[in-house]
Amino acid sequence: MSEKLIELGKKAAAEKAVEENVKPNMILGIGSGSTVVYAVNKIAEMNKEKDLNLKCIPTSYQSYKLIIENGLNLVSLDQFPVIDLDIDGADEIDKNLNLIKGGGGCLVQEKIVASNSKKFIIIADFRKVSKNLGENWKKGVPIEVIPMAHVPITRKLQKLGGKPVLRMAQSKSGPLITDNGNFIIDVDFGIINNPSELNDKILPIPGVVDTGLFLNMAFKAYIGQEDGKIVILKK
Ligand code: A5P
Repeated sequence: MSEKLIELGKKAAAEKAVEENVKPNMILGIGSGSTVVYAVNKIAEMNKEKDLNLKCIPTSYQSYKLIIENGLNLVSLDQFPVIDLDIDGADEIDKNLNLIKGGGGCLVQEKIVASNSKKFIIIADFRKVSKNLGENWKKGVPIEVIPMAHVPITRKLQKLGGKPVLRMAQSKSGPLITDNGNFIIDVDFGIINNPSELNDKILPIPGVVDTGLFLNMAFKAYIGQEDGKIVILKK
């Protein structure tokens, strides 16, 4: 699949989602990843034409910088704990709009922002959709953990039937450190038939901060196709 068609799909989905959902005076959650960049560019373009008085809450260091670099108004959850709309990407989207997120390592802040949003919308390209989680996204479910607990957590994840791999940093020796100072373990559970049951087993393990399973959170997904058309999936 050509990179150009994938980028076309991402851009089309992001722009359509912004055009249809971003309204003046909104408190906006700004997701992370490469697709969100297109959304923020579109928001900034609309905001330049007419000041929309938007307030943007980031979900990572990447989206914090995106907001600032695009001249948008950066605010925090401390000031605005209820968000009107959160727009974010995903690594995989199943038929019920359950998601795997965290391929970019930002899942914890992404889930906090999404869970405090009245509407959570996903933007993605055609490669991300599958019937069941684990079908297309083969890198495993990202799980953010407290560093000193990563070895016992790894053993417990193996007992749950997963194949855990500590995510390593790039251009630096050792593990990747998240925006929250933690590690990420990517766990391949194969095809996940019951994501809710799996999530319920992982979350209580001491030292687990959160999982990249975003269940019953998204209400709509804009999926950009190879030809630039958009398919909208709804709950
Ligand atoms: C960041 O941790 C992720 O949850 C991203 O939202 C997800 O990986 C989608 O990223 P892309 O838009 O780059 O595919």
